[in-house]
Amino acid sequence: MKLLVVGSGGREHALVWKLAQSPQVTRLWCAPGNAGIAQERLAANGAPVECVNLGAEDLPRLLAFAQSNHVDLTVVGPDNPLALGIVDLFQQHGLRIWGVNRKAAQFESSKVFSQDFMGKYGIPTAVAGTFDQPSAAKRFCASLGGPCVVKADGLALGKGVLICPTLTEAERAVDQIMVGKAFGQAGSRVVIQEFLEGIEVSLHALCDGKTAKVFPTSQDHKRALDGDLGLNTGGMGTYSPTPFLTDSQLAVTAQQVLEPFMRGCTAEGIDYRGILYPGVMLTRNGPKILEFNARLGDPETQVYLTRLENDLVELLDASAGGTLDKLELKWSPLASVCVVMASGGYPGNYSKGKPIFGLEAANALPNTKVFHAGTARAGESIVTNGGRVLGVTALGRDLKEAQSAAYTAVGKICFEGAQFRGDIAVKAL
Ligand code: AMP
Ligand code: GLY
Repeated sequence: MKLLVVGSGGREHALVWKLAQSPQVTRLWCAPGNAGIAQERLAANGAPVECVNLGAEDLPRLLAFAQSNHVDLTVVGPDNPLALGIVDLFQQHGLRIWGVNRKAAQFESSKVFSQDFMGKYGIPTAVAGTFDQPSAAKRFCASLGGPCVVKADGLALGKGVLICPTLTEAERAVDQIMVGKAFGQAGSRVVIQEFLEGIEVSLHALCDGKTAKVFPTSQDHKRALDGDLGLNTGGMGTYSPTPFLTDSQLAVTAQQVLEPFMRGCTAEGIDYRGILYPGVMLTRNGPKILEFNARLGDPETQVYLTRLENDLVELLDASAGGTLDKLELKWSPLASVCVVMASGGYPGNYSKGKPIFGLEAANALPNTKVFHAGTARAGESIVTNGGRVLGVTALGRDLKEAQSAAYTAVGKICFEGAQFRGDIAVKAL
């Protein structure tokens, strides 16, 4: 099979690494990829993975590439091409592609859509309302009688969620988003949720339109600094599984979310094939869904795929083809920890082009894999090329062993300004 992976981050490196292990894959391209992706080789024939210089949002050229190279399956990593309708476009041209279609991508691209859907189909979530008028939005904030969260409807680079401890701050947030248009059109509507206290975990389920298969649990660390301090980021590290949700609690939660989710999709004519990634708050009153993402998490993917024992091509092909009921997901009992190494200054301004040292030494350690995110090749060296640079991932018999292995590998790598959290998975230990 010939495969094309779309994207260039740590998630896409993990996807490429895992897909390359499949005996079915004879050629694999990644658009645009990164320096680590370009170092991968196929298990079937030893051929190198080929990075092609096409942007993940350049739908017409991605289509032309897949057509002229007779790609058998395209795998989409990031949310933007999904929201732009890459799946619909490829399918219109008779090409097989894995990921959610445009209608299904609304679960991530519109928080109002998701919140209304959760309300309509009884999915456990925060007390919430959706609004297109600032006055009604503010009245609802007041009615909550406590801290609340104001969310711009559309994609806002992860910045459209404002946590408001007081009513005055909530009213200001509504004005900022709806009147001041701080996030442009993304803020013409808002979701307002009660503020929930608890532990946040990530769930993932692979769906094929009829069947949804839940992954083990994982937890991300979204803040930049140790102790969950600092600014929100794309994710500074993950581990799997998390002890905060036992296997039986996971099964119950998955049932409470996925059964109404799939029923709602059928009722609304949404053919949901791809990943459903709910962000969940474990509250005193049980798990509550904060939001839905319609793609794999980054860096959740790095810990999931290091634990996955199936042939990923088979799984994604079954998800795209509607035959997931015939497959069983198999997971290694080992724990996985991913520590993100980021550029100095991230998530604010940072510089690029810093040479990275020690990658080979880190990768040579047992049960360790360094996934690249923002990296590029400059002559003989590999240099930084983004905010999140590497996802240093290791397996262990338990979280403690995996954590220790991941930090041993981090200790082998250096680049000017490198920053990482020293407490990934500490909460779980
Ligand atoms: P979202 O993009 O909707 O997941 O929101 C981003 C982050 O804001 C989440 O990962 C949570 O940490 C936080 N958050 C969102 N909604 C709530 C809520 N209702 N209560 C408390 N924290 C929240
Ligand atoms: N790990 C956070 C995200 O992928 O959105």
